[in-house]
Amino acid sequence: MKEQVIRFEINGEKAEVYADPTLSLLHLLRSRFNLIGTKEGCRKGECGTCTVLLDGQAVNSCLVPAGKVEGKKVLTIEGVTREGALKGKRVHPLQQSFVEKGAVQCGFCTPGMVMSAYALLRDNPSPSPEQVREAISGNLCRCSGYKQIEEAVLEAAKTMQEKQG
Ligand code: FES
Ligand code: FES
Repeated sequence: MKEQVIRFEINGEKAEVYADPTLSLLHLLRSRFNLIGTKEGCRKGECGTCTVLLDGQAVNSCLVPAGKVEGKKVLTIEGVTREGALKGKRVHPLQQSFVEKGAVQCGFCTPGMVMSAYALLRDNPSPSPEQVREAISGNLCRCSGYKQIEEAVLEAAKTMQEKQG
């Protein structure tokens, strides 16, 4: 399809790009903005490695046409890392917990897992283990580190609550 201008916000900054509106948001982020933290897995909405937040909702970016992000806010894993850095840390507390709890094996699923967990904790700062499992149910980990991932999210929730309290 003919390229058109698409204006939106990425990680808190205004973005403008000429692109085919049928291109996936996943490709737009990786190829046009070099935001390669968002991973490409199945390309059909089944693995969750491409998860980003679109106006605060976790979505599979491989299924979102670029034209649909016009006027919207996109948050990627790079934005989450930067949020941690702005608070004087190397990374976001969620990412820190993933490392500390051994929830990163090959790491391919990690950005998508973190984004799903981020969306959960934003809406529900103190989730139950079941709620964590539900939130990451669309994210596949081929290394099967689900238990550690669940623990990492619960630990991050605790840390983030303590910091606020
Ligand atoms: S690459 Fe998007 S869900 Fe698998
Ligand atoms: S850590 Fe390897 S896919 Fe999850």
